Amino acid sequence: MKDTSKLSGAWPILAALLALVVYLGWRQMRGAPLPGPLAGAEDEQAPPHKRAPQFEFTDQHGSAVTPASLLGKVWIADFFFTTCTSICPGLTAKFVLLQNRLESPELHFVSFSVDPPNDTPQALARYASGWNPDESRWTLLATREPELYDVARGFDVFVMPSGIEDDPIMHSGRFFLVDREGLIRGSYNSEDEEALERLVVDAMALAAQPESAGHSLRKRGGAALFTSLGCAGCHLEKRLAPPLAGIAGREVELEGGARRTADEAYLRESILDPAAQLVAGYRPTMPSYRGLLDDAQLAKLIEHLRSLAAPESAPAEAQSAAPQSVIDPVCEEPITVFDDSPSREYRGRRYFFCCEHCQAGFDADPAKYAKP
Ligand code: HEC
Repeated sequence: MKDTSKLSGAWPILAALLALVVYLGWRQMRGAPLPGPLAGAEDEQAPPHKRAPQFEFTDQHGSAVTPASLLGKVWIADFFFTTCTSICPGLTAKFVLLQNRLESPELHFVSFSVDPPNDTPQALARYASGWNPDESRWTLLATREPELYDVARGFDVFVMPSGIEDDPIMHSGRFFLVDREGLIRGSYNSEDEEALERLVVDAMALAAQPESAGHSLRKRGGAALFTSLGCAGCHLEKRLAPPLAGIAGREVELEGGARRTADEAYLRESILDPAAQLVAGYRPTMPSYRGLLDDAQLAKLIEHLRSLAAPESAPAEAQSAAPQSVIDPVCEEPITVFDDSPSREYRGRRYFFCCEHCQAGFDADPAKYAKP
């Protein structure tokens, strides 16, 4: 009896604690600003902030990057690793979409690798080139232990080796917004469309520039859209996404056993609503491009997909109309070739590279890399 009454006296406190836990969990999921020194101040205009953690890591071009070298820039950060096939393709696809939507030169994008032993600057340069040829605003960082864990803690990110072969490193799929003074202004769940919209608005406010809403995307043709939207980042790798060469008119096997001919309606639906019909054997990692493309762009993209010849009839050489997939002779990775891809003419043949790194490698010793 006594005990029960004691307990009932504690109920209001327990209920308040529970409500607080639920509220904090909800804020975390909604990607609300991180609590900081002034936690409790609810003013959206002036949320409390904490400073981005210290680090000195190397970017994909081999240069040192620190929070100090990012001062004066607004940056959006994420955590990933190049060989991850679970959440990273979708995460990077969204990161690349953000780059397309937020075209202000004042906005930078910083990806911290959580796989220091494997993600060297060269590996990062190769990875970036598969996603987006405009790397001027995207810094990919080769990290080091134990600083990586300090940085993860500083962003309240969870990073942990999992011991699972397919998915060796567990890490959070959040984006972080850092202002010109190096203060973390928000944390956003990349899986939550509303949180991503908030990130776009918040980033534009910090960069004090109107959203260009994919302005330069509008000028691009279907092939260029394919690369700059990040389609190539997944679709050039069979283990991440089905190869699209010869897709038009192909019989597709869907998850659950149904079959469908890849006509124009199917291609359109695949781009706007990829989760509606999954291709057998693949995970629902492809983001929806609804709202990002107008009708004319969508038509150009579909036209481009329809022009992708089946592998048997594809020309063996890289010389004809761009873009197409060729092998970079230096890093030996498949890349999408564009009119403006780094390339070199050598002994009457043109060679294409994923990045300036590889081009420089070729220049140093062309005979070593040239085809006989
Ligand atoms: C994050 C990786 C990723 C990105 C980026 C991506 N896709 Fe996909 N895509 C997939 C996966 C995985 C599938 C198969 C599962 C499914 O049907 O959604 C797929 C399926 C497709 C299909 C159907 C293919 C088939 O064999 O039936 C088409 C068409 C397609 N994507 C086009 C595109 C285009 C165009 C873009 C860029 C605007 C793009 N994808 C970007 C991962 C991606």
